[in-house]
Amino acid sequence: MAQDDLKRAAAEAALKYVEDNTWLGVGTGSTVDFFIEALAEKRKAFIKGAVSSSERTTKLLKKVGIEVEELNNAGDLSVYIDGADEVTEHGAMIKGGGGALTREKIVAAAARKFVCIADGSKLKPVLGDFPVPIEVIPMARSFVARAIVRLGGYPEWRSGFTTDNGNVILDVHGWTLLNPVEMEAKLNQIPGIVTVGIFAQRGADVILLGEKNGVRTLTPGTF
Ligand code: A5P
Repeated sequence: MAQDDLKRAAAEAALKYVEDNTWLGVGTGSTVDFFIEALAEKRKAFIKGAVSSSERTTKLLKKVGIEVEELNNAGDLSVYIDGADEVTEHGAMIKGGGGALTREKIVAAAARKFVCIADGSKLKPVLGDFPVPIEVIPMARSFVARAIVRLGGYPEWRSGFTTDNGNVILDVHGWTLLNPVEMEAKLNQIPGIVTVGIFAQRGADVILLGEKNGVRTLTPGTF
């Protein structure tokens, strides 16, 4: 089965977590693109609309006729649906491969439930094969990079890329995240870091994995 079919299967399985008559938080990425397609086809009439995590997602939501609301006006959300670059069975994730991590973390934090959709290859026993994206204020780039080196990481500037918030990304190689909650907290203390692409303090409550025999559901619950 092609990877896109596995992503699409996970995305379609997420439809049953969409709550009627509420604002839905929508993430960013190729798996979410499939989700938006399915939502537009099957459930868009039942929700108030969506709060988006990126310019890319906003554009697609509007294209398929789903109303997009500002988080400031929507208030707390029922559910947030998003992909991941890596996820553990405990619901800790690496996110931000597409660079949308800051708004993703904000919208996820505003939601009661986080549903992670991914093809089965994203499930890992330990996070860290995928480099950890970190969004940084541009003038702090070198300072933050040195702090990361002191924490045993190898930061690589995602050259030529600017986030939706006007910042830069450092992709950090070389970490094996045995305690992702602790590393997320430590990095959050470094001045100049806007958002860490470790989503462990607030992880996924439900993980839907597209696999060749169907969609597997894991329910780690909240941290
Ligand atoms: C976007 O910045 C990321 O956090 C995505 O959620 C993540 O990269 C998953 O993307 P795919 O669904 O394209 O694999």
